[in-house]
Amino acid sequence: MNHRVIEAAPPPERFARGWHCLGLADTYKDGKPHAVEAFGTKLVVFQGEGGGLSVLNGYCPHMGGDLTQGTVKGDAIACPFHDWRWGGDGKCAGIPYAKRVPRGARTLAWPTLERNQQLYVWNDPEGNPPPEGVTIPEIAGAGSPEWSNWTWNTMRVDGSHCREIVDNVVDMAHFFYIHYALPTYFKNVFEGHVATQYYEGVSRDDAYLGFVPGTENQKIAQRSEAAYHGPSYMIDYLWNEAEGTTVETVLINCHYPIGRNAFMLQWGVIVKKFPGMDDATADAMAAQVAEGVGLGFMQDVEIWKSKAPIDNPLLCDQDGPVYQLRRWYEQFYVDAAEVAPEMTDRFEFEIDTARAVQVWEQEVAANVEAGISYSMIPKSMRAG
Ligand code: FES
Ligand SMILES: [Fe+2]
Repeated sequence: MNHRVIEAAPPPERFARGWHCLGLADTYKDGKPHAVEAFGTKLVVFQGEGGGLSVLNGYCPHMGGDLTQGTVKGDAIACPFHDWRWGGDGKCAGIPYAKRVPRGARTLAWPTLERNQQLYVWNDPEGNPPPEGVTIPEIAGAGSPEWSNWTWNTMRVDGSHCREIVDNVVDMAHFFYIHYALPTYFKNVFEGHVATQYYEGVSRDDAYLGFVPGTENQKIAQRSEAAYHGPSYMIDYLWNEAEGTTVETVLINCHYPIGRNAFMLQWGVIVKKFPGMDDATADAMAAQVAEGVGLGFMQDVEIWKSKAPIDNPLLCDQDGPVYQLRRWYEQFYVDAAEVAPEMTDRFEFEIDTARAVQVWEQEVAANVEAGISYSMIPKSMRAG
């Protein structure tokens, strides 16, 4: 008898073309150089006296000094080894002990974008600048007095390619089994460099946020519109409704590759203030939402840690369009000239959730009947 054999090519050699978020811009604005391990190398991020943030290769082309250990001098980063100065444009801005700077002395300067109070870098293995229209959209709530400040969290994931997290875009069933939510509506739209997931769901009566006392019996209805803008940056507009109150949230789910098989997962949250809510309360609410999101990611990570990479998943009729999503994702890993229409053409797919919802509701009801309840806290974090 033939059986299904799992196929998996080694992870790609190159890193995705596109904008990658490096976190909140303010983190880098303290006059010091910052090291970011990304794209298989080390980057240095610094703020020059002009105020703008620059991202350069972390190693000095003179003799390999580590610029992240250097000093910001004026608008340049000074190498700790022989004090060569590198401007944010990548040009050598001076060598104090030399008569002149060698012609064409230049290091790699990564294109940057500061928006939504965050810093983004553009990665392109072919070395081209971002094409017209390929950008990160503005988020109206970011920096608005009607919204909280950002909370920002990071988690290093070793041993997995970042494709694992992108797969979540189409994976309806894992929301029930891994995240203890019950999806009722699930649709995907892919077009150009954007991949969107439309989601509606409810919390499970047999699961609760184990770390928030009093939430045991709260029914939460959730609606979400989440879109990847490029290979790594998802903006998720979320509405959580419980007992007649809706919390409006923007969740950023993004990552950058560290190496071929490791990535930095990041998530940021802002919430819209309720009328009359003060800043501190709004920030605390955002932090609480972020904590729940963090638990969700830990549930994913627990799966990734032990799962096999798989290029040929065996799908059923209630699964989302994994193959189409991966074709969309492939556009970021081929040369720009090789991007095929099948990677970027508009594609829509809505899962008919009726069968799944019926079975899941029965399972939840049976658990409630039997007194079985699940905690959101991942197994590895629970005591005992
Ligand atoms: S290695 Fe950087 S100045 Fe010499
Ligand atoms: Fe997930």
